[in-house]
Amino acid sequence: MNITVIGSGYVGLVCGSCLADLGHKVTCVDTNSSKIKSLRKGKLSIYEPGLEKLIRKGLSKKNLLFTTSYKKGCKNQILFLCLDTPSLKNGAVDLSNLYSAIHSIKDHLTSDCLIVNKSTVPLGTAKKIKKQFLKSVKFNVEVCSNPEFLREGQAIKDFMDPERIIIGVDSDLIKRTMQKIYCSINKKHNKKIFMSVESAELTKYAANGFLASKISFMNEISILAENYGGNMNEIREGLGSDSRIGPSFLNAGLGFGGSCFPKDLKAIIYEQKKLHLPHGIVASALEINKRQLNLFYKKILNFYQGNIREKDFFIWGLAFKPNTDDIRESVSIKLIKKLSPKVNSLTLYDSLAMHNAKKALKGIPNINFSNQKYSNFNQIHGLIICTEDKEFFNPRISELKKLQDAVIFDGRNILERSILEKNNFHYEGIGV
Ligand code: UGA
Repeated sequence: MNITVIGSGYVGLVCGSCLADLGHKVTCVDTNSSKIKSLRKGKLSIYEPGLEKLIRKGLSKKNLLFTTSYKKGCKNQILFLCLDTPSLKNGAVDLSNLYSAIHSIKDHLTSDCLIVNKSTVPLGTAKKIKKQFLKSVKFNVEVCSNPEFLREGQAIKDFMDPERIIIGVDSDLIKRTMQKIYCSINKKHNKKIFMSVESAELTKYAANGFLASKISFMNEISILAENYGGNMNEIREGLGSDSRIGPSFLNAGLGFGGSCFPKDLKAIIYEQKKLHLPHGIVASALEINKRQLNLFYKKILNFYQGNIREKDFFIWGLAFKPNTDDIRESVSIKLIKKLSPKVNSLTLYDSLAMHNAKKALKGIPNINFSNQKYSNFNQIHGLIICTEDKEFFNPRISELKKLQDAVIFDGRNILERSILEKNNFHYEGIGV
């Protein structure tokens, strides 16, 4: 099938290159000409495992094209919308990128088409888009909702082998078209779940709201565990073995970040307030997440009786989670900004996110970056771990022993307290 993907950001690139790999002929449209220039050469400005390779494959097979021209893009009758929908200051969703794409489509449409919306949008947006076309173009434009559930770091796998494909449609014809687009995914098991357009739009928010609430719930329990001597690793196992609860997203820690959870929770809360609806769990999940970072910060201060002026720390992990260079809403970056004016120095390390962190932390005092995770440990007082990157799981004890105050603040519960204490370290985790 001939498909156009509008927006060559994270979701658009994954979606476009995967659809091309499934055998479709895909045209990716983005108004950023320098980005399109690089993409035509197979070069990406973001890191996602396997993505560059897949894009190069599509380019060489000539079933993946990149253009800035809506005129070219609108020649296809299936248009995927993959536009960024960030938060406004008041928590509302900023739909300006989405609507500017809609305007460009309207100007260049030459036939009937199906718009497949993958961007995360408030309830009712698909209907509003359809109305806009009804008013201003002579072609029949259908709009369906097909929210994405891609996790950064494993987005290709999530697209090619999804647990479910949610599709909100309001006609059998669109349903059949969507069946065809995804027919080669999971042939053995039907992963497609059809529902109304509104339900699909809300399923996306509900999924992110629920997952974030799971994390905040565990973080709330971790405070009880700390006070009564429970261990969150054991509690997680005990809880997760109940199939009604499930084992994933139960890691207590520094809390959630990224470009999705915080933004989507804010959007839910905004919509609830706008409509004067009862609310509670989602707002609490966001509140607990903020509190979690402060509690960790206080743990560091408390260890030093409030005085960290002369202290030097090493921080492992700058991205919002492992396996990505994305630092948006990174808890680590927030912690660095809180700590940096109070300490002598912070040395920062991340194997993927260093370039983005350098940009985000420009002008922040008392920080320096290291390409090696054990650099100058004998001049460092304590280690702070902010992400659960695999390379941090088994640190070299001989290197850690060089730390002047022999203290480790583990914001992701990845190290073994017993091993560290045997080696005379002071260990602070989150409810472990
Ligand atoms: C999230 C969802 O998991 C995807 O399904 C969704 O498609 C995506 O948002 C989106 O809306 O686009 P992502 O933001 O890539 O994906 O990251 P996650 O792996 O979900 O992690 C989010 C945050 O939660 C990270 O900061 C992570 O460290 C934290 N987390 C995760 C915990 O603190 N504890 C856990 O047990 C799991």
